[in-house]
Amino acid sequence: MTQPAIYSRVIGTGSYLPPRRVSNQQLAEELAARQVETSDEWIVARTGIKARYFAPPDMTTSDLAVEAARKALDMAGVDAQAVDLIILATSTPDFVFPSTACLVQSKLGITNGCAAFDVQAVCSGFVYALATADNFIRSGAYRNVLVIGAETFSRILDFNDRTTCVLFGDGAGAVLLSASSEPGVLSTALHADGRYADILCVPGNVHGGAIQGNAFLYMDGQAVFKLAVGVLEKVALEALDKAGLEASQIDWLIPHQANIRIMLSTARKLHLPTEKMIVTVDEHGNTSAASIPLALDVAVRDGRIQRGQRVMLEGVGGGFTWGAALLRM
Ligand code: ACO
Repeated sequence: MTQPAIYSRVIGTGSYLPPRRVSNQQLAEELAARQVETSDEWIVARTGIKARYFAPPDMTTSDLAVEAARKALDMAGVDAQAVDLIILATSTPDFVFPSTACLVQSKLGITNGCAAFDVQAVCSGFVYALATADNFIRSGAYRNVLVIGAETFSRILDFNDRTTCVLFGDGAGAVLLSASSEPGVLSTALHADGRYADILCVPGNVHGGAIQGNAFLYMDGQAVFKLAVGVLEKVALEALDKAGLEASQIDWLIPHQANIRIMLSTARKLHLPTEKMIVTVDEHGNTSAASIPLALDVAVRDGRIQRGQRVMLEGVGGGFTWGAALLRM
């Protein structure tokens, strides 16, 4: 007798933002004290960002991740002990090691010995983690996978560099992806091109007890912008093609929330009305691996995203990496 196919479906979403909201005006005032000049007008016009959240010094990426994960488990109605894999996407882990996923497992009080590991694909990290979880579930290896994107990007920002420090924020988003007899993740597509490693990077490491190189984020904004608009269109079409669907059949588009201009251009290229795009970059800034699950959770909880609808998630970021995941909710 043939076994029924196993699919993976999102059965819970959650997110968490640290308590301190910093508007562009507040940030501009704080930067002025360092003789760094910027303005609300410049940031809004170039990026669409109006505010971001910063974690206090004693709050780590795993702290943010745990809050988001608890909410996703709550929505799913699944006990934490039933989780059999944790995949956490981050570029701002608590430590070099152990992985932030292991710290999250412990903070959630999970004592079942479930597997836990981090994924490093910068702003594409959540899509990479989701695709990995989907493959593990469809292979029959795991049934309940916590997929988390969590970041404290404020820790790697150089607040003397106005070209980058106004763009990013801290936060976390999570989903519980579970085995299902109905298709939930319809298709995924992942890519990378390491030849562009140096246009977006934190080119530092720990060496002999000291930081070697530069531990602050560096970005060639225009090079990233050009690459991002090209690959986001292509990878969305690839994911649609794999699922045998047309762009017009997408109910919601959730691109990585980095810059409203890149997001609008992606929607335009896919011939999707902008009302079908979930936008949180205005309130959250760019939270890297957390941006997509944060936006997904916002739109699920405010009732825009409904069960049965098709949602296209798209990530792009350092590496250079990019990817898409087409979901049926
Ligand atoms: N405030 C005021 N002026 C500024 C600021 C600021 N915060 N930052 C830069 N400027 C100035 C520059 O100095 C420059 O001045 P000049 O003309 O006198 O030299 C001028 O503004 C224009 O700067 P550009 O860099 O050309 O501005 P641009 O329109 O390219 O916007 C931006 C910059 C927003 C960074 C854009 O290039 C961008 O969004 N790039 C993509 C970022 C992205 O998508 N990242 C996603 C991946 S993130 C990840 O993976 C971690």
